[in-house]
Amino acid sequence: MNIGIDKIGFAAPNYVLDLADLAQARNIDPNKFKLGLLQSQMAVAPVTQDIVTLGAQAAQAILSEKDKEQIDMIIVGTESSIDQSKAAAVFIHGLLDINPFARSIEIKEACYGATAGLILAKTHIAQHPNSKVLVIASDIAKYGIASAGEATQGAGAIAMLISADPSILILHNDSVCQTRDIMDFWRPNEDKYPRVNGKFSTEQYTDCLTTTFAEYQKRTGKKLADFAAMCLHIPFSKQGLKGIQAIAQEDSKTLNRLTERFQEAIVYNKIVGNIYTGSIFLSFLSLLENSQSLKAGDNILFYSYGSGAVCELFSGHLVSGYQQHLQPDRLHTLNQRTPLTVEAYEALFFEEIQVDETGQAVDLPVDETDFALVDIQDHKRVYRKK
Ligand code: HMG
Repeated sequence: MNIGIDKIGFAAPNYVLDLADLAQARNIDPNKFKLGLLQSQMAVAPVTQDIVTLGAQAAQAILSEKDKEQIDMIIVGTESSIDQSKAAAVFIHGLLDINPFARSIEIKEACYGATAGLILAKTHIAQHPNSKVLVIASDIAKYGIASAGEATQGAGAIAMLISADPSILILHNDSVCQTRDIMDFWRPNEDKYPRVNGKFSTEQYTDCLTTTFAEYQKRTGKKLADFAAMCLHIPFSKQGLKGIQAIAQEDSKTLNRLTERFQEAIVYNKIVGNIYTGSIFLSFLSLLENSQSLKAGDNILFYSYGSGAVCELFSGHLVSGYQQHLQPDRLHTLNQRTPLTVEAYEALFFEEIQVDETGQAVDLPVDETDFALVDIQDHKRVYRKK
């Protein structure tokens, strides 16, 4: 049975910061961000936008009423949870009015979580071919003012509908994973922002890729030349490029082709920033919507990496007519976001919700987006769908 991605959608907050402005404010050469990290903008979320509202918005953009009846599992991959107990998927299930007889869960393993969700969804469909699974990757990446990671922040959500006989990508059965118990990036409960061993994390990203790719080749017999493109986890675009260079260095023809496709695969990531577990799928969406060279049947190799660390290499091929299930004007929409000054970004990004002694939110800003956090009552988050 063919199982894979039937639909894919994306949502980002409506605010954006230009990294040239950030560089100027931090007294850094703008080329460090533009050329050194290959990033030009980052999405900024107000307190009324979180993993629930962004995830719901991304899913609403792709789901039909029939899909909502057929979905019997919702999986949210995230490392920006809004509750230590209740899954964001349960809030999203309610907001989207999905079939009540569904399983709704949240998965965490840094930027790898949603890939685990995708593989779980595939296993579920193999047993229940008539069902559909909604996999959402939703995160808000914050490193802190003037931190080394500041220019790599971002926010956004990807939603994917996983089904039998999908319209976009058929997944292959060739996954190879690796787990390494390392401290390259982690977020202790007592800390607001992650702790990062930046250089070590970049080395681990690449080393996990090269060693897992060697194992992948050994087990599957596939070569890099078999793939038309590669989509990787993109903490910042330069990291993904270095990943491709690390495994393709001995095959210049393949390296050139994968590098050309990679430029198409980072069009959105460059102006959204790191959305953690959704970054690899944002890159896939960017590739699909910005490449004129891809065609049905092309094989795509995926490298998912989550700090801590867990990684997975897997692949799929494009389905005939996949182009009809995309949104070609997405770049135009992203370019309509409201630009922020650095002062406005600092105020917005680090604004915190105040809750009084009764658990009631105080002075929560009004948010006109389709899905928004509108109140906290008795410590319960209240969401509104327009
Ligand atoms: P840094 O140490 O300040 O930057 O922060 P740097 O000095 O290494 O410079 C970065 C690049 O800019 C270098 O390029 C410089 O040469 C270049 P490279 O040599 O590496 O190719 N550069 C310039 N280029 C042109 N003109 C200039 C200029 N100046 C410098 N004037 C660091 C970099 C990645 C450490 C920082 O951004 C950081 O800590 N980021 C967060 C951690 C991260 O993203 N790690 C990536 C791998 S781990 C991962 O992907 C998982 C993650 O997503 C979390 C999860 O799984 O949940 C992070």
